[in-house]
Amino acid sequence: MKVNGKSMRTIWLSDDGWSVEIIDQTIFPFCFETVRLQTMEDCARAISDMLVRGAPLIGATAAYGLALAMRKNDTDAALVDASETLHATRPTAINLKWALDRMRAVLAPLPSISRAKTAYAEAARLCDQDVAVNSAIGDHGLALIKAIAKTKAIGEPVNILTHCNAGWLATVDWGTATAPIYKAHDLGLNVHVWVDETRPRNQGNSLTAWELGQHGVPHHVIVDNAGGHLMQHGLVDMVLTGTDRTTANGDVCNKIGTYLKALAARDNDIPFFVALPSSTIDFTLLDGLRQIPIEERDGKEVSHVLGRAEDGSVRTVQLTPDDSPLANPAFDVTPARLVTGLITERGIAKADKQALAALFPERAVQAV
Ligand code: MRU
Repeated sequence: MKVNGKSMRTIWLSDDGWSVEIIDQTIFPFCFETVRLQTMEDCARAISDMLVRGAPLIGATAAYGLALAMRKNDTDAALVDASETLHATRPTAINLKWALDRMRAVLAPLPSISRAKTAYAEAARLCDQDVAVNSAIGDHGLALIKAIAKTKAIGEPVNILTHCNAGWLATVDWGTATAPIYKAHDLGLNVHVWVDETRPRNQGNSLTAWELGQHGVPHHVIVDNAGGHLMQHGLVDMVLTGTDRTTANGDVCNKIGTYLKALAARDNDIPFFVALPSSTIDFTLLDGLRQIPIEERDGKEVSHVLGRAEDGSVRTVQLTPDDSPLANPAFDVTPARLVTGLITERGIAKADKQALAALFPERAVQAV
């Protein structure tokens, strides 16, 4: 997508041909800075400290992390160690494991001398595929937006509510939930996005709003609690989110707060769609609520917030009393029964085991 008119991806190989560059997402929307990752450990830190985040981009960064690891030490032991270190960075997004498994399956059988070169090529291929897959998700989701647009009076927008950032910043390009929105906007359809701020880390405020603004997509940022009210007043036509892991039966794990949006959508008869590449489907699980590990992050994300003061300085300020205990579950699970459909690169599936297996038969064989 474009930043100040210039096309960019979220991760790319440096001009030196071996180090990897990313955009630091921890300082958005106040600063735009790129960071050069030179070691596997740099990649692991970038993932755990959320310089990069979003399930697909976490996977892509881990893939390059393995390439950097192989450049330094291409032994079997180093391959296993690097995979384990990268895998431990964030527990919920399954694309991380998917990307590491894919890289290891390619690299492990090779003589060590050829591993580094192949790892870079495979990481680049994984990134290119992410872009193509998200574009295909965009095409399938676009059909849904077009259908709603047909029901609208002239000048009336299609109102889409989204949570967190499932935009191009969460992927290599296009985004998952935003891909249909960008395609609709580019076609001249009248789309408007309600952007949940998404406490505690404010991915909606700082990332989704920023990228929609860069692309010229009309939107309003709302507090997380506003969605239900807007739905009750007919101001939401569709909820469209991403996901960090979706089970074989269609339970959707996504940023904390997503479940409440799904409940409100159901109560108001509003379609709740989830956009996802098949790399986000965990075909080994059938019960999202009990089986998906939910990342518990530092309470400081709840008690403190980054913002720009009136004097222009960017500061972190405290919100809560000094001694208040803090809890910070980062994700929740929306049961499949609340999900209207899953928008994948192969089309839109019902959120159930049969429909997902029919769309991805080669992956569904892993199901337990
Ligand atoms: O903790 P994050 O920022 O990595 O979480 C990402 C999300 O939950 C996104 O909303 C997204 O839906 C999943 S990635 C496309």
